Amino acid sequence: MKLIDGKALAVKIQDKLAEKVAKSGKTPGLLVILVGDDSASQVYVRNKARAAEKIGIRSETLHLPDTTSEKELLACIETYNRDKNWHGILVQLPLPKQINEERILEAISPDKDVDGFHPLNMGRLWAGNPLMVPSTPAGIMEMLHEYGVEIEGKRAVVIGRSNIVGKPMAQLLMMKNATVTLCHSRTHHLADITKKADILVVAIGQARFVTADMVKPGAVVIDVGMNRDSNGKLCGDVDFASVSELASLITPVPGGVGPMTITMLMKQTIEAAQRQMK
Ligand code: GUN
Repeated sequence: MKLIDGKALAVKIQDKLAEKVAKSGKTPGLLVILVGDDSASQVYVRNKARAAEKIGIRSETLHLPDTTSEKELLACIETYNRDKNWHGILVQLPLPKQINEERILEAISPDKDVDGFHPLNMGRLWAGNPLMVPSTPAGIMEMLHEYGVEIEGKRAVVIGRSNIVGKPMAQLLMMKNATVTLCHSRTHHLADITKKADILVVAIGQARFVTADMVKPGAVVIDVGMNRDSNGKLCGDVDFASVSELASLITPVPGGVGPMTITMLMKQTIEAAQRQMK
């Protein structure tokens, strides 16, 4: 087994991004909107701000109260859509119950949608002509490339069908000519399917869900999970102890997918800024 060191790769790419920003002499701006007090979201947002600062991206986090109405949030987004100083706008998910997530994601200018969640950007991806791509699957593709994982013709299995990870992941793998199976919580005989995977991407949000008996020896295993087990210990969707014994490559949690997600967000912010400043 070999570890996929997402942290190290993230640092390497972030250094390159910082160089690119410095050389351009122009400062990209990333506006992050956080609504409410979800503790995980607060950590994610803080990490994004920290990475932005390191790279030379100007970032600001707008922290709105839990009671913010949909109308107020829409008005806020509208203001920043028009403001040329901000090249990327990101609304941290999940949102409080009174706010319709779809309506919010559709309100963000597709040019500034660095998360790639706007239906136009999702459509571009599914048409095979992506502009901005959700950062978690984008980061996973970078890791597979960096570690020389062959994708063409391979069987890839993705567990989880979210718009943020599972669906775009399946499409990115398909675009590299993998044969992709997208599984989810209602899939029958899941282990029979995952056992055939050359590349297995797990994004279901259940601690240590994938065990060794579900994995083909020599498979490449990518763990998107970020859970706390019953002892409060941070762990992924994959039972690392047993699966790492038979995988050829595997991502750890933490230090795998997470740092790459943030890095790809920064990359897309820089690219969006460069398009807008042309
Ligand atoms: N919540 C969980 N993952 C993400 C993400 O990638 N972007 C945003 N905006 N919210 C999230």
